[in-house]
Amino acid sequence: MNSENNGFFFSKKKYFIESNGTVTKKSHSNIALIKYWGKHTKEIQIPLNSSISYSLEQVYTVTRLIYYMKKKKSKNFSLKIFLSGEKKNIFLQKIRNFFHRIAYYCSYLQDYNFIIETHNTFPHSCGIASSASSISALSLCIMEIEKKLGSFLTKEFFFKKASFLSRLGSGSACRSIYSGLVVWGYHKYIKGSSNLYSIRYPYQVHPIFTKMLDTILIVDEKPKKILSSKGHQLMNRHPYAKERFKYANQNMNRMISILKTGDLPEFGKLVEYESLTLHAMMMTSNPYYLCMKPNTLSVIHTLWDFRIESKKNIYFSLDAGANVHLLYPIQEKTSISKWINSDLLSYCKQIITSFCIY
Ligand code: DP6
Repeated sequence: MNSENNGFFFSKKKYFIESNGTVTKKSHSNIALIKYWGKHTKEIQIPLNSSISYSLEQVYTVTRLIYYMKKKKSKNFSLKIFLSGEKKNIFLQKIRNFFHRIAYYCSYLQDYNFIIETHNTFPHSCGIASSASSISALSLCIMEIEKKLGSFLTKEFFFKKASFLSRLGSGSACRSIYSGLVVWGYHKYIKGSSNLYSIRYPYQVHPIFTKMLDTILIVDEKPKKILSSKGHQLMNRHPYAKERFKYANQNMNRMISILKTGDLPEFGKLVEYESLTLHAMMMTSNPYYLCMKPNTLSVIHTLWDFRIESKKNIYFSLDAGANVHLLYPIQEKTSISKWINSDLLSYCKQIITSFCIY
């Protein structure tokens, strides 16, 4: 494990005072291959297993953070939030909580009022979790302010702290700080891995995994009924949790070897297994719940039939919702797009295709 602890991200430094300013940052959403599901109860946002994800090129958030000096310093945060130009008070509480959580590490935040203007490349509430890209874009903006007000920050520290701050807002968001394959959570075979922040996947990756596509099938556009934070909580007294964490770490070992050898069918098996395990955990929580919809299953079965017939390398992944991510190498794009358009369109409201950044 790395030697850093929370204190590493705290600074006693006196910051310059700048009366106002604006910073803008972009951050991508990500799809986990080995899933984060379950966190420690006594520590804030510490995962119970390590996870790895691809950042998605075409699915991102751009955030502009405008800051201006408070008349009187106070511990309260004055925030205004705009999504695609529209004022959105529904996000205020979440973002205010986030600011309170990170205030200890970013003391300068208490000197300012903030206006957050944010745009997603994907439609709001189309069912794609926007918290990973939005919290990470906001954290990058905050680090940009720290850079402007403070003295020298190394590039490495800038991103490490941005990931650390993002994690405090939403676990999966900390993986969105970097592009490519990103790991969060300590794993004994992944050098530099940490529970506090994410790192770029540090090992050799077979060329096949450097040119993958993700087609997201929006089966259900409605926001999730059960929030991920609640789902994580239900892992605390889950009868199968201990085994899940053990297997997740073993699955990470398998993923390390698959990424090296380029074994695409094994990759697919593992990614699908992880997705179904995630949903099995939800279905066996107390209370139990179900995120998949009939069309989620229709897509999965249609995909399995197509794979047998066509022998194409295409696999699904699910996050904690009903939508389906289809992962396949870029070489297969033409025939797979044709198949998606002819066989899957009727099951979904919308389709978004993105490169998995490497
Ligand atoms: C199923 O990161 O949304 O997408 O830390 O409570 O904000 P919080 O949870 P969140 O959980 C996402 C879980 C997942 C799997 C993953 O991305 O690893």
